[in-house]
Amino acid sequence: VVGIGKDEFFLASDATPIIEYTDQVIYLEDEEICHIRRGKELKIVNLHNVEKKHTIEQVTLSLGQIEKGGYPHFMIKEIMDQPACMMDCMRGRINVEASNIVLSAIIDNKDKLLSARRFIIVACGTSWHAGLIGKHLIESFCRIPVEVEYASEFRYRNPVVSEDDVVIAISQSGETADTLAAVELAKQKGAFIYGICNAIGASIPRATHTGSYIHVGPEIGVASTKAFTGQVAVLTMLALTLAREKGTIDEDTFRTVLKEFSRIPEQMQQVLTLNDKIAELSKIFTYAHNFIYLGRGYSYPVALEGALKLKEISYIHAEGYPAAEMKHGPIALIDAEMPVVVLATKNRLYEKVLSNVQEIKARKGRVIALITEGDTVMPGIADFCIELPDLPECLTPLISTLPLQLLAYHIAVCKGLDVDQPRNLAKSVTVE
Ligand code: G6P
Repeated sequence: VVGIGKDEFFLASDATPIIEYTDQVIYLEDEEICHIRRGKELKIVNLHNVEKKHTIEQVTLSLGQIEKGGYPHFMIKEIMDQPACMMDCMRGRINVEASNIVLSAIIDNKDKLLSARRFIIVACGTSWHAGLIGKHLIESFCRIPVEVEYASEFRYRNPVVSEDDVVIAISQSGETADTLAAVELAKQKGAFIYGICNAIGASIPRATHTGSYIHVGPEIGVASTKAFTGQVAVLTMLALTLAREKGTIDEDTFRTVLKEFSRIPEQMQQVLTLNDKIAELSKIFTYAHNFIYLGRGYSYPVALEGALKLKEISYIHAEGYPAAEMKHGPIALIDAEMPVVVLATKNRLYEKVLSNVQEIKARKGRVIALITEGDTVMPGIADFCIELPDLPECLTPLISTLPLQLLAYHIAVCKGLDVDQPRNLAKSVTVE
């Protein structure tokens, strides 16, 4: 992107670092070259040196959105901003009284989406974890098969993709090279591409046929937090809307889930009051060398995401596992030195997770359990419990992710690490 100031120009990979100086920008297309010369007009040409027309766009970002707002790090600001981000993401899209969800991309492309033979979700990193939750949501509510692929694997696998497939590309930055390449490949093979992105006007939203922005505002901390919950929120709205169009959800379930979904910002606010408690807890685990995160169903991707957050910013080795798979390997690692974070909210599989916790305790592992408020059994077994509000199972990831983000954040702070710019990582991975 080129920023146009008064007697000066700016170049950056997106508009965020430029808006301090100017809100006038030009987004360059692939294979365009921008000539910037002192005292001369800016000129854009293609590879054959033919001049290209350009449109100057006004960026709607405000400076406040890219400042820390009194917090010591962007990451904690972005964690704390999640209730407000959820409201921005839902604004104009949900109407609880009318029991309705409006996603314009679905209205405009209803036939294409409803006739899809299957959905393929492509993404990287945290966005891939959101994709796993999307699979669960779409398969449960819409009864459409969904595959979730790492974009980097998909693009080199000569995947079987046809015109009957819908590919959902999820990317916070909209610039991840592997995800963009996966989109181009799927497009060549005739699939219909739906983007779920945050950065407005980025390469992926421009390359897709349609899409929904998550509207959570610029995310600056390298470890993704509010973008994850924004992605899951959009996937929830998408699954509910398609399910209703397809007739695969009954009206009562739709109404109940939508009503509870609309209350997620308040529920998040309640969970964020646990911040001090989690900061205390993190002091106990600052010097752990390993962590295991366990969850089942909707909570399995949350376990993966919790482990990723810890690795990214605390440099502690962490593995996320489906709880029932523990017996096929990770259980061998458990001893008094091994903290295990267990997502144990009340749902169909609660009893099974409870027995996993008993197995961990029998081997002297230390358990931090995320439980539903009012659970009186788990506090008698786990070492530490974090209580979460009672929600329909499909909505729990929107809430249970927050304590795990806070745990990773506080451990990294205790270790004195650079939370917002962890070593070796980049916010937008625009190369392979
Ligand atoms: C990098 C970032 C992650 C992010 C991943 C995918 O690794 O550090 O936070 O999840 O890229 O990025 P995207 O912008 O495509 O969601």
